[in-house]
Amino acid sequence: MKNSATACRITGVGANLPERVLTNLDLERMVDTSDEWIVTRTGIRERRIVNEGTNTYELALPAAREALETAGVKAEELDLIICATATQDRYFPSTACMIGHGLGSGDAPAFDISAACSGFIYGSSIINQYFKGGATKHALLVASEIYSRIVNWKDRSTCVLFGDASAAVVFSAADGPEGLIDTCIRSNGEYGSFLTGGAITRAGDPLSGALPSMGENYFIEMKGNQTFKVAVKSMCDVAQRILKENGMSVADVDLVIPHQANIRIISAVGKSLGLPEEKVYSNIHRYGNTSAATIPLALYEAQKEGRAKKGDVVLMVAFGGGLTWGASLMRL
Ligand code: ACO
Repeated sequence: MKNSATACRITGVGANLPERVLTNLDLERMVDTSDEWIVTRTGIRERRIVNEGTNTYELALPAAREALETAGVKAEELDLIICATATQDRYFPSTACMIGHGLGSGDAPAFDISAACSGFIYGSSIINQYFKGGATKHALLVASEIYSRIVNWKDRSTCVLFGDASAAVVFSAADGPEGLIDTCIRSNGEYGSFLTGGAITRAGDPLSGALPSMGENYFIEMKGNQTFKVAVKSMCDVAQRILKENGMSVADVDLVIPHQANIRIISAVGKSLGLPEEKVYSNIHRYGNTSAATIPLALYEAQKEGRAKKGDVVLMVAFGGGLTWGASLMRL
């Protein structure tokens, strides 16, 4: 069993969702699909989509500001800014640098991490190590995703799954039973082809400066069935492992927040871990898969709904393209 004193704890959470709602009925008019197919196969009823031209860092800023305000931390007090995103605005500067600039965080180090839907868990693991190093007082972890920009809107097998969102968490130094108990992150590039995405050609014309229309030059490819199976197995394995390594069992957990990719994956993970439904959080019906943002967004809503309270033990577990997967265990 590991040391029980934590190095950091969550002091503020924020979220920002685009106002525009894209329902399954809207999608019926765009591709050969049906509300019934989408709901029964995925649990998704609607998702949020940004207006064209919105940047990933712009979507992130209100979420980051809310998290800082709740934490009572000023931007200039941040020692570290990490943005988890697979839909960064540019190769450089990083989204995190743009967020830091927008917040006015001075010269705090800022960088993006690429771990697809596991990005928030990867970020929390990195942050935990910074705090254990001792010099960090406050760190901001933002997950911001605009998948509507990389989705091929003519491909029914993927375009129905994703949505846009941003959520942010402030971690502050701690030294007690409350806070981040442990994290565990893993990857296996052998399964990389299960889930890939990217740009088909360069983004934009260098002479005219014109940008491609949303989705035109990008793609997401997924081996849905294989992904499904490996997702359930890897999330269950890592959840059991992190609990065991910290001398806990599922009975000690008040709430599990799994990555929101598919309600059937979420149910299968809950069932396999032997958890009652009320201990497994889901909001996928409202937002779809918002990649790295699903877990902090779910934490934000779970706190608002009173389902994640101070002192509760929360287990977050994710998987994503890479493949990557991991878990974060915390006492709020
Ligand atoms: N509407 C109607 N029919 C569809 C649609 C659609 N939107 N999409 C696919 N179909 C059809 C297929 O063409 C296929 O038709 P066929 O039988 O005539 O060939 C049929 O539906 C069944 O397709 P499957 O792919 O077998 O459907 P499945 O039950 O596996 O569900 C799904 C597909 C929802 C993608 C599921 O496999 C899944 O959720 N997998 C996991 C995906 C996931 O978790 N991704 C998250 C990763 S995100 C990240 O890391 C970036």
